[in-house]
Amino acid sequence: MAAFADHLSRGKVEVFNELGIDIVIGRREGASFYDAYNDRKYLNCHCNGGVFNLGHRNPQILDALNRALYEDEIDVGNHHLISGWKAKLAHRLATTTQDHCPGVVFSPSGSEAVEVALKTARVVTGRPEIISVHGAYHGHTGLAAMAGDARYHEPFGIDLPDFTHLPHNDLAAMENRISDATAAVILETIPATLGMAIPHEGYLARIKEICKERGALLILDEIQTGLGRSGKFWGYEYDEVVPDLVVTGKGLGGGIYPIAATLMTPKVHKFYDDEPFVQVSSYGGSDIGCAVGLAVMDIVESPGFLARVEELGDRIEKKLSCRGEMRRRGLFIGIKWPDDGAGILAAKACIDAGVFAVFANNDTSVLQFLPPLTITDSEVDEIINIVNEALS
Ligand SMILES: Cc1ncc(COP(=O)(O)O)c(C=O)c1O
Repeated sequence: MAAFADHLSRGKVEVFNELGIDIVIGRREGASFYDAYNDRKYLNCHCNGGVFNLGHRNPQILDALNRALYEDEIDVGNHHLISGWKAKLAHRLATTTQDHCPGVVFSPSGSEAVEVALKTARVVTGRPEIISVHGAYHGHTGLAAMAGDARYHEPFGIDLPDFTHLPHNDLAAMENRISDATAAVILETIPATLGMAIPHEGYLARIKEICKERGALLILDEIQTGLGRSGKFWGYEYDEVVPDLVVTGKGLGGGIYPIAATLMTPKVHKFYDDEPFVQVSSYGGSDIGCAVGLAVMDIVESPGFLARVEELGDRIEKKLSCRGEMRRRGLFIGIKWPDDGAGILAAKACIDAGVFAVFANNDTSVLQFLPPLTITDSEVDEIINIVNEALS
């Protein structure tokens, strides 16, 4: 703790100590991790926003990693060369979009994958403007931070031109703003940091129509909502919309090796056919990451997986007696109460009781609740009992 305070963040150590949640993450397995000090178990209902969609140290992912390291004897690979691992994972991802977005650029993190989406939209349309919504989170780097809420760029002096922020769920504002200067609209399919605020029916589909009419592109950030979290492979499948670009990350690395991807239509991806040497990323789509990503795809695309996610979500919705508004698609869950800060109190109560969950940073009245998609029946019942007791 002292070394963490000295070198990483004294503030973090002090805040957690003060709140009595000074957990040092130790061993971890399946749906749980344990405090390194006292071995106390925490059921993980945060999952780093989806990094641990398949639980901690999922045996199938570890097997794939071991095979890649010791049977196939691969490593990160060379980002200049052609790679079968990259090609295989790109093909698998493309099929999940019904081949609407078969073009793929890999990155090491979600933020970078969002950077790729935004700069690609600009270069392909030849237009400057990027439209996003207040309260969004798209990552911590330049363009991605700029597309997010002001709190993620203003303090750092990131103040890039041609970024417009509109209110979430305000179709009229989109109608008024999208123009022939707009390169792209970027949206989380359901904004997580804004408290899992599910948009109105038809919202995304209408934005896509407007974009199409006016020559702009629609980018959907599926870094949290994708890869089965919502009970469908992509969250946008609920909205009958086909985006021009889809961004994924987090869970694609199976909690073991970071990898992210930007998928795009052939028309958009043509840029990378014409300019094969401008998007250079040493770790983007590393061969090891692709081997892990392929194992993730095997699990998420296995028969019955997505139906099970929805069944588990439904069970939680029915059995949680939280007296809040339940915002849910599959196991992408937010619980909202009327008061600001209620999500913070709920998170503290859950953590004290042994379920790790956090509040939504841009709406503190919401508790984000993201159990692993692989939880067992007995674990889900354990979670429900603990949370019901804690919230009561
Ligand atoms: C919706 C969304 N977009 C982008 C990112 C950035 O991803 P990363 O942390 O891998 O850079 C995150 C991370 O929390 C996210 O939740």
